[in-house]
Amino acid sequence: MKKTRQIEHNAKIVNKHLKSKLKGNPKKLYDAAGHLIVNGGKRLRPYMVIRSCQILKGKVSNAMPTASAVEMVHNFTLVHDDIMDNDEVRHGVPTVHKKFGMPIAILAGDVLFSKAFQVITESKLSSNATTQLVARLAKACVDVCEGQLLDVKMAEEQKIPSQAEYITMIGKKTAALFDVSCAMGAICATTKTEDIENLSSFGKNLGIAFQITDDLIGVMGDPKITKKPVGNDLREGKKSLPILMAIKLAKDNEKRIILKAFGNSKVSKKDLSKAVEAIRSLGIEENVRKQALKYADKAEKSLSKYHGSAKIEMISLLDFVVKRSV
Ligand code: IPE
Ligand code: IPE
Ligand code: MG
Ligand code: MG
Repeated sequence: MKKTRQIEHNAKIVNKHLKSKLKGNPKKLYDAAGHLIVNGGKRLRPYMVIRSCQILKGKVSNAMPTASAVEMVHNFTLVHDDIMDNDEVRHGVPTVHKKFGMPIAILAGDVLFSKAFQVITESKLSSNATTQLVARLAKACVDVCEGQLLDVKMAEEQKIPSQAEYITMIGKKTAALFDVSCAMGAICATTKTEDIENLSSFGKNLGIAFQITDDLIGVMGDPKITKKPVGNDLREGKKSLPILMAIKLAKDNEKRIILKAFGNSKVSKKDLSKAVEAIRSLGIEENVRKQALKYADKAEKSLSKYHGSAKIEMISLLDFVVKRSV
């Protein structure tokens, strides 16, 4: 697919920059910080920083430090998220805490988080723009933490949240970083508030569509393609939209099979597979993708006043996000 090739091309440039920034001693700490990065990842957020900057006619070189910084923050959230979610595999390799142990994983996350801010201050932008970047990124990190807590809390509670509560949660844990990626890309190009807010809104809505689709992949995906296990959200009792829809829709036998695995940390592999199969049999995919599409349409509207190839690429990214199976 053309879109994937563009993302990959962009990823190569970002990787070079990232690699140069993630070196140091003790080596093990930096190996742990770079572990998920060297083993995969789509680099979607840096792609969005760069294209947002280009939509507003900014220079790519001005956005590079910010592009690396958001990928560092993203990886910081992944390392800590895998600890919280008890996940053992990501990018087809053991997660950072599984490979390096808990203390190093926590520190690797902290290094990624801190370096991100250091790298942003290396941007060759006005000090006013740099201050805005730091302020925005810090706010987004706080939002991610709040969203992650909502995610964990919802999983612990018996209560089934409403769709609106689920959207608020993913708006913070995931969309905040997509939102700030686009807003920061815009700041690298302009001081105009209206443009920054249009890009911010694009990122936010794309981020919501992205997480809805990701949650679908979490129960329907093919681990060979996604390189992460399927069914873990179910085992952890995550109140993701596809799981909520499935529980609502399932009758008798299927419901019993799903609920046996839901939030059951001791569920056997066999019962977890059965539950995943039961969800698949309900045919919720189209409905979940429709919800994602709703947010993708909102995102598209935010860019209506812009033209040119960078805009076209951002719109086709939306298509990738809602249709993806990886
Ligand atoms: C995974 O994001 C975490 C979520 C917000 C769902 P990505 O799918 O973008 O992560 P990469 O591509 O593995 O880095
Ligand atoms: C996504 O978390 C949000 C963050 C990592 C902050 P999830 O737990 O839903 O994503 P995966 O499935 O582990 O990638
Ligand atoms: Mg997770
Ligand atoms: Mg999580």
